[in-house]
Amino acid sequence: MLTVHTIAELRQQLNAARRAGKKTAFVPTMGNLHRGHMSLVEEAVRQADLVVASIFVNPLQFGVNEDLDSYPRTLEEDQQKLAHYGCQLLFAPSAHEMYPRGSDIQTVVEVRSLSDLHCGNSRPTHFRGVATVVTKLFGIVQPDIAVFGKKDYQQLAVIRQLTEDLSLPVDIIGVATGRAESGLALSSRNGYLTEAELAIAPTLYATLSELAAQLKQGNRDFQALEEHANQQLESFGFERDYIHICRQSDLKTPTAHDHLLVILAAAQLGSARLIDNLEVILN
Ligand code: PAJ
Repeated sequence: MLTVHTIAELRQQLNAARRAGKKTAFVPTMGNLHRGHMSLVEEAVRQADLVVASIFVNPLQFGVNEDLDSYPRTLEEDQQKLAHYGCQLLFAPSAHEMYPRGSDIQTVVEVRSLSDLHCGNSRPTHFRGVATVVTKLFGIVQPDIAVFGKKDYQQLAVIRQLTEDLSLPVDIIGVATGRAESGLALSSRNGYLTEAELAIAPTLYATLSELAAQLKQGNRDFQALEEHANQQLESFGFERDYIHICRQSDLKTPTAHDHLLVILAAAQLGSARLIDNLEVILN
């Protein structure tokens, strides 16, 4: 696997591949890669001839009091994992390469309304940062397909929306959440958890699963179900952020006629903000 750090080098490599008629799949990441990320690479390998990954801890998507400086950076291990799973090209730019004018970037991409819900409520500038960097990365890599995890459900919805609204010629593929045996969704931020917190963390997914079972049994008192789940998490030691029962199509509150639902959740455990979600299909 070849690692390049500049847009010019990457373009050179990609031009040759494009001339050879190769189908390109792109897997954007912030590094500190785990099995969840690798399932995206595996899907990319299945669907394309050339697999390009990126590792860039994007300052634009971190709020002022968030973990930009402490976010784990493990380039060498990440390179080994990517190569092992069949990624051929890694783009690992510096912040200066991506944003030569620093935070004084003049063009931003904002997916309105969707970016204000759920995680956007607790992290007001987050999805603008994600949408901007993903659009820029699409412009740099110009992939045929791009692979994202359902772990970040709202992020995937934001990216699908911007791709459609801006008519970008990229097929967006969503991949199921990779979990530990305990049910805990794999995440780079799990590394912030102490041993005691790691023992508590799987109750987030367990709580979502219980909520899903209630929905399947016909309980439609969404607010009461959300409140009960939040209280349960607080009793385990989480600080509440939100639990929202939504419809999959636009992540808004479902009506009685909606059958494709998703429960979105975020909660703070020690110094880690954990997110998870669970799709629920009602008969
Ligand atoms: P990062 O958190 O590194 O995640 C990179 C990709 O891996 C995302 O598509 C994310 O949804 C997926 N992913 C993370 N954990 C996963 C898991 N347990 N199972 C399946 N997929 C998982 O998300 C970002 O980076 C950034 O916001 C980015 C899109 C790269 C833009 O900066």
